[in-house]
Amino acid sequence: MTNSDLRPGPTGAAHRRGLFTKGDRVQLTDPKGRKHTVVLEPGKQFHTHRGAVEHDALLGQPEGIVVTSTGGTDYLALRPLLVDFVLSMPRGATVVYPKDAGQIVTYADIFPGARVLEAGVGSGALSCSLLRTIGDAGRLISYERREDFAAIAARNIETFFGGPHPAHTIIVGDLAETTERDVDRVILDMLAPWDVVDAVSAALVPGGVVCAYVATTTQLSRVVETLRGHGTFAEPAAWETMMRDWHVEGLAVRPGHRMVGHTGFLVTARRLADGVTPPVRRRRPAKGALAEPAATAPAEAGAPLAEPAATALAGAVPEPAVDAVPEAVDAALEATRES
Ligand SMILES: C[S@@+](CC[C@H](N)C(=O)[O-])C[C@H]1O[C@@H](n2cnc3c(N)ncnc32)[C@H](O)[C@@H]1O
Repeated sequence: MTNSDLRPGPTGAAHRRGLFTKGDRVQLTDPKGRKHTVVLEPGKQFHTHRGAVEHDALLGQPEGIVVTSTGGTDYLALRPLLVDFVLSMPRGATVVYPKDAGQIVTYADIFPGARVLEAGVGSGALSCSLLRTIGDAGRLISYERREDFAAIAARNIETFFGGPHPAHTIIVGDLAETTERDVDRVILDMLAPWDVVDAVSAALVPGGVVCAYVATTTQLSRVVETLRGHGTFAEPAAWETMMRDWHVEGLAVRPGHRMVGHTGFLVTARRLADGVTPPVRRRRPAKGALAEPAATAPAEAGAPLAEPAATALAGAVPEPAVDAVPEAVDAALEATRES
């Protein structure tokens, strides 16, 4: 008997609780903090250079036990959290980091039962967070223009949930061509989110939220200016989040030595009702913000760029190649994101 025989559906809480049973994924952490994932099968062994661990020593046991390998090494046994899973699962495209996925879920206001449109699905990391939040009664339509990435994502998502998620549909294609309507939220993690703003505007309900995750300042500028200039969105907000681990041991309480310095920027904007003109901004742009920056004078920090300046800066992203060789451009962009 497997978990799916015992437990109703792949997505419920029951799937993540209770004694270890056949088919469960278990994360074994050694004394140095190294993690290994095993899928439990009666009679099988997990082998390391520190000896073997019997799966039978885990089956029927609660989470949080310590098992000892034949070589005498102790392993802490727990079900992997979503954070553990997305950082260790097979990747096609670079994943949205958990710290940013948390921000997206909160600031894009993903709620149980929400209808959410997403592109691209990449490796499926963000999709897992979105599906968890919308639940079985929601709907997530994930566009991915690369068939190979869509297949990797589908496998990862199924592995995480223990079966196909009832609320999920993956469409191999370009989000710009979507005919979806009346969606509550749109999440964009793709090279050129400004290219799909018309489709996003047509898909969103009034009051709906679009959230874009971009890696570079040139993309940030361009997506904000495109949303601002579109006429169907309220004023966008933009930010980034930094996360620093801390070492806490006795009197040695200090920031960790290593840190992921940059992942991406987030942008959100709300869809206005049809026919409504965006309210005039009261705050004036900083002097010179809307003029093309002089070659020698750097643009003022935080100041919005007028279209010519934005376009000039965005030119740093090899735009003509976007249509010509999307994989090459994605790869170039991926290189700017931590892998
Ligand atoms: C960085 S990855 C997405 C990673 C994903 N969010 C995750 O957490 O695993 C960007 C993906 O967007 C896809 N993409 C780019 N433009 C697209 C478009 N217009 N429509 C659909 N997918 C697109 C790319 O093929 C790529 O797989």
